[in-house]
Amino acid sequence: MVALPLTNDPAIDPSVQDLIAARPWLKYDAFAGLLLDGVPLAGIAAGAGTPTWAYSAETMRARYRSLADAMTGADLNVEVHFAVKANDRLAVLSLFGAAGAGADVVSGGELLKARRAGIAAARIVYSGVGKSEAELRLALAEDIGQINVESAEELAMLSAIAAGTGQTARVALRVNPDVDAGTNTKITTGRATDKFGIPYADAIALYRQAAGLPGIRPIGLATHIGSQILALAPYRAAYSRIAGLVRALRDHGLHVETVDCGGGLGIPYRNEPAPSPAGLAAAMKQAFHNLDVRLTMEPGRWLVGPAGVLLASVILVKQTPHEPFVVLDAAMNDLVRPAMYDAWHGIVPVAASGAHTLGGPATVVGPVCESGDTLARSRSLPPLTPGAIMAILDAGAYGSVMSSTYNARPLAAEVWVDRGSWSVIGDRQAAEAAWERERLPA
Ligand SMILES: Cc1ncc(COP(=O)(O)O)c(C=O)c1O
Repeated sequence: MVALPLTNDPAIDPSVQDLIAARPWLKYDAFAGLLLDGVPLAGIAAGAGTPTWAYSAETMRARYRSLADAMTGADLNVEVHFAVKANDRLAVLSLFGAAGAGADVVSGGELLKARRAGIAAARIVYSGVGKSEAELRLALAEDIGQINVESAEELAMLSAIAAGTGQTARVALRVNPDVDAGTNTKITTGRATDKFGIPYADAIALYRQAAGLPGIRPIGLATHIGSQILALAPYRAAYSRIAGLVRALRDHGLHVETVDCGGGLGIPYRNEPAPSPAGLAAAMKQAFHNLDVRLTMEPGRWLVGPAGVLLASVILVKQTPHEPFVVLDAAMNDLVRPAMYDAWHGIVPVAASGAHTLGGPATVVGPVCESGDTLARSRSLPPLTPGAIMAILDAGAYGSVMSSTYNARPLAAEVWVDRGSWSVIGDRQAAEAAWERERLPA
């Protein structure tokens, strides 16, 4: 049997101490239990209930600063567009807006949210393979900075709309470099067979065509090869191909002023070696430093993933002839990553007493009626009793944004931890609110 990544392997798995030591924003206090930026998570669970997402604002700010510093340190002037899909909460968007970031959006809804959070239209880039006519009209009406076009068909559609309204769209062609990012196949986007981007071989012809179309001003190229990327080699390969295209386009007399380097930088959920922003900056520099292009990037997960935890209560511990099941009140409808990507998340007790006294392996599950609702397998946990609060780590990216109301489970509360206190940034959904929009047939 192939071991799923969410299955623990005592030979490689970090202990509770190692998990916490690697995340300086988390700390155990002997009396107050696990603290997030000094704020007891037990207090949040008591006040807001569970399941609840808790985000460290300072960790997001610090990670943004360190990413920006890595770019500056490599002598690169890079405009960072936060990938809204990773965490689209207004509090998060306004934090990054205030820190100086723009936004990478993939829907009209994300565009409106970014604007609502105060991000200037000029600093918004719109990516995605299927922007509807209404969404393209919205992008033009908002006069956003850049539209990343992903097909000849979309280019024609955008040209017709923009020409009709008398506007000019600033367009980058998103090119598929045919590079395998080596990550989970569901979040791999840069292979020739993936739905994203314009085939590499078609890019020059389409760029030339774009330059002659009404309502279109081609300004550059974009690429994004996937998410949770844990090696720099795929970045180097993709960037080298894009740099080659920039040269070729210029050789054809075409104007190229910008390159969007995408996102995807991975984070260690377990204890995987992960590349640093400085490593990514070096890859960008190596490819583009002598091309005189304005560089942008679209990181999401790296900025917000580690900054969030999902708090859950133990409902019961079900004994079986095999591993016991620890049943939490958080489930796959809250955090779908383990079910969807076999993703591994650290799960630690919030109470300090006994946190490091591990018992035999247990399977951690939620109450949803699917065996796929498994958050961890063969996990060594302390002896747990009903009501114990657990923190699921690194839940700040692709967490609450991917939640659903499956099994008519309401959306969890979301809280913001900043400057020593916490506040609610997302109310727990009332059970009835989840079906408020429905009608019985006439
Ligand atoms: C076009 C685009 N840009 C940026 C991102 C952000 O990726 P990540 O959160 O891994 O940095 C994604 C997500 O896959 C994406 O599709």
